[in-house]
Amino acid sequence: MFSGKKVLLGVTGGIAAYKTTYLVRLLVKAGAEVRVVLSPSARDFVTPLSLATLSKNPVHWEYINEEDEDSGEWNNHVELALWADLMVFAPLTANSLAKMANGQSDNFLMAVYLSAKCPVYFAPAMDLDMYQHPATKANIEKLKSFGHFLIPAESGELASGLEGEGRMAEPETIFSHIHKHLLSQAPLAGKKVLINAGPTYEAIDPVRFVGNRSSGKMGVALAEAAAKKGAQVSLVLGPSVVQVTNPSIHVERVESTQEMLDACEKAFPSADWTILSAAVSDYRPAEVAVQKMKKSGGNLQLDLVENPDILKTLGAKKGADQVLVGFALETENAEANAQKKLDKKNCDWIVLNQADKEARGFGHDTNEVLLLSRSGDRLPLTLKSKKELAHEILDVLIDYYSV
Ligand code: CTP
Repeated sequence: MFSGKKVLLGVTGGIAAYKTTYLVRLLVKAGAEVRVVLSPSARDFVTPLSLATLSKNPVHWEYINEEDEDSGEWNNHVELALWADLMVFAPLTANSLAKMANGQSDNFLMAVYLSAKCPVYFAPAMDLDMYQHPATKANIEKLKSFGHFLIPAESGELASGLEGEGRMAEPETIFSHIHKHLLSQAPLAGKKVLINAGPTYEAIDPVRFVGNRSSGKMGVALAEAAAKKGAQVSLVLGPSVVQVTNPSIHVERVESTQEMLDACEKAFPSADWTILSAAVSDYRPAEVAVQKMKKSGGNLQLDLVENPDILKTLGAKKGADQVLVGFALETENAEANAQKKLDKKNCDWIVLNQADKEARGFGHDTNEVLLLSRSGDRLPLTLKSKKELAHEILDVLIDYYSV
C-alpha cells in the first residue's frame, strides 16, 4: 500500500516532535518514501540528524542549503511540495496552525505548505486550554474547510503536567489515518472481491479423505493483492497450510466442496468480482463411514459421486454487473478446453494453468498463465512468482473494467 508513496512530514516545535521519529520509522518500514521539513523551532525538540537517518533523506528547515550557507544553493519549496503524494503535519502547534489557517509564510515549512497540492493531514498538539481556545477551534475548522484532514488530539497527561485533551495522536494512529487514506485512493477501493482457494477434502471416514495437491498459494496471493489494492476481500479457503497475513481479509475456512459452495453462495450476491481459483474435488465418496474403516484383507472399492460445480452454479446466477473469473487446469488441448469451460460455466475470464510445465502450478511458488476473456482476448502472463502474478491478473482486470 505504501510502496512508492511519497509522504512529506511537516514537524513543528512542540514536545511531541520526538514522537515523529517513530512515525517516520513506521512509514519507511511500510515502504513509503519520506521527506521531513522542520519549522525552525522544531529543532529544539528533535534533531535533523535523527530524522534524516530514519527517513534516509536530507531534512530541511531553511531556504538556503543548511549544510553550507555560503554555497548559494537553496532548497526549492515548490519542488518539495509538488513531490509529495501526501503531506502530514505532526505535531502541529497552535502557532503553526494559526499560520496555516491564515496563509502566513514566514518560514520554509509554511512556504512548502502553501505550495502543496496534495491531501494534507494535521495532528495538533498543545496544552488543553490552548486546544480549547475558540481561536484554535476556529483555525482547525478553517483547515478542515480547505479540505485538510484533522487527526484529533488525544486526552492524557500533557507536558505542562495538566491532564486533558491536547496530546498529539500516537504515531500508530497517525499511520493508520494515512493508511486509510491510501486505501480509499486504491484502485479497488469500494469493491467487494470474493475468492476461493486451496483444495477440498472429501471425507471417506473420520480420518481419511479424497483430495488433491493444491497448496492454495495462488488464491491466497490473489486475496492479499486484492486487499492491497483496496478491495474488501472475502476468502473461502479449503484445507491449506498457507497463512493469510493481511488482517483485513475475511477468511472462512472450509473443508468439503459442499461447505465451499455454501460459503461462496452466501458471499456471492454482494461480490463485485468473484475469482474461483480453488482446486475443487470433482468427486466425493457416496457414503462416509461413521467409524474408521478396517482392512478387509481384499481390495477396497470407493463409490464416488460427482460434486456440485461451484463456478457453474455461481455463473448461472451472475448479475450483469458482476465479474466472474474461473481457473482451468489442463494437461492437453489447453486453450480449447479452457474456452469450453469459460462458455459452459458462464465466466467472464478464465486463468489457464498448464500442469505439464515445470515450476508452474500446484505446490510451486511460481506460475505462468494465459488469460482468456469472454470477448476473445488472449493475454499470456509469463513465469513469475504467484504473488507478482496475482497483482498482474488484477491489474489486467482493473485496466479492462477501468475501475
Ligand atoms: N470448479 C468448481 N467446482 C467444481 C470443479 C471445478 O467451482 N466442482 C471450478 C474451479 O475452481 C475452476 C474451474 O471450475 O475455477 C475449472 O476447474 P478445473 O479443475 O480446471 O476443471 P473442471 O471443471 O473440474 O473440469 P475437468 O476436471 O474435467 O477438467
